[in-house]
Amino acid sequence: MYLGLDLGTSGLKALLVDAEGTVQGTAEAGYENPHPRTGWSEQDPADWVAACEAVLDRLAAAHPREMAALRGIGLSGHMHGATLLGADDSVLRPCILWNDTRSAEEAAALDATPGIREATGNIVFPGFTAPKLLWVERHEPEVWNKVAKVLLPKDYLRLWLTGEHISDMSDSAGTAWMDVGARAWSAAALEAGHMRRDQMPALVEGSAEGGRLRAALRSRWGVEGPVVVAGGGGDNAAAACGAGCFAEGQGFVSLGTSGVLLAAKAGYAPDPASAVHTFCHAVPDTWYQMGVILSATDSLNWLSRQTGQSAADLARRLPDVAEGPGNLMFLPYLSGERTPHNDADLRGALIGLDVAHDPAALTRAVVEGVAFAMRDCLEALKGTGTELRSVLAMGGGARSRYWLEVLASTLDLPLQVPAGGEFGAALGAARLGIAAAEGGDPAAIMTPPQVAQTIEPRPDLVPRYDAAWRRYRALVPAIRAAQAD
Ligand code: XUL
Repeated sequence: MYLGLDLGTSGLKALLVDAEGTVQGTAEAGYENPHPRTGWSEQDPADWVAACEAVLDRLAAAHPREMAALRGIGLSGHMHGATLLGADDSVLRPCILWNDTRSAEEAAALDATPGIREATGNIVFPGFTAPKLLWVERHEPEVWNKVAKVLLPKDYLRLWLTGEHISDMSDSAGTAWMDVGARAWSAAALEAGHMRRDQMPALVEGSAEGGRLRAALRSRWGVEGPVVVAGGGGDNAAAACGAGCFAEGQGFVSLGTSGVLLAAKAGYAPDPASAVHTFCHAVPDTWYQMGVILSATDSLNWLSRQTGQSAADLARRLPDVAEGPGNLMFLPYLSGERTPHNDADLRGALIGLDVAHDPAALTRAVVEGVAFAMRDCLEALKGTGTELRSVLAMGGGARSRYWLEVLASTLDLPLQVPAGGEFGAALGAARLGIAAAEGGDPAAIMTPPQVAQTIEPRPDLVPRYDAAWRRYRALVPAIRAAQAD
């Protein structure tokens, strides 16, 4: 038996699978994601551990025989978070998350350091880990002076599970301290970020061993033998493992809190200027590229808070089939944007508001605005020479048929909808657990899911969504100009 643990932004999901990856049990627990100030996004690492204890206690109670036979665990987690530990591994401050943009100034300064983009293969985005540490150095020197180790969120969970300071290539690629081509910490990037090598965890491949489950936890959950904990992966790499995306041209679009358009790459071909991310995959000698938008379903969550209606209720008000763009335009830059704008200060907008617009019209505008932002990501990927012929659709937003129809025609790409069951980051993590515990060719374990249906772009709608996307794009300079300094 194997376990995938996916530390998401809103909660932890545990998936217990057998050697074929068939699900035997699952459990979830949520936690808070406070935004104490504009642009801030934090989490208490103790909440992750509490969630992990809750889900594993529950799985052990519900599936004692399966848990007794546990051999491997894989970890996946939201990327880029800075978990700062003192010499005794105590947590020094709340974790600063991937969607936190407080370190925009530090990111811009670091990004301007000669050679940093070449060393790391990426723009230094404010959400990445390195600028957060420079922010702490400047604003919280008493914390900065005590930092003995910096761990990514899933690696803090690993520390609790195994007692070891280890990370994997795919997650570490998003720190801006790593040489992504060489799959090693970059001395130049660490120096530019005022960090020391001894503050970094050891690095392993995602499909290799990265620690063993502590004896005390094995007895707590009734596990009989030793348990290998895989290197695991950042959530997007882990999702690509769950979706079987490894070959050039394979990819997925994910409508989660953030929106991601990911393409697997056989080689390392960075193009930082495009604001496309180029990261290590969770299996050796493989990379991927992706465009990332910060507010996909998070835009719908925002609307849900303003209207007092749940996101699911709002989604139910959407038309049954896509019928072309509406007359209300939404720009989803609620937390700034990464691809293609790299602008932490950019903010969203609703344009064309009419006295007749109701929550249904607002929902439709949100869905379309997110699709237009994903089109920006596709254009950025295309600009780097990456081609996608069709992509798997995943994430909470992919449950909306209407959203997928709008997206297929806006991207002019067929979207494959996986048949029910698991195919996301938790399954990817479990598969990395299998690979690390049993060896073998990781890609042979991580096959694509069955496709239930393919949503084709509609020839009558493609030019209309294309024209609307062009109008959407033209609005960005006007929005910037309208913002107060
Ligand atoms: C990727 C990114 C997000 C997070 C949250 O660069 O920041 O996708 O991993 O899930």
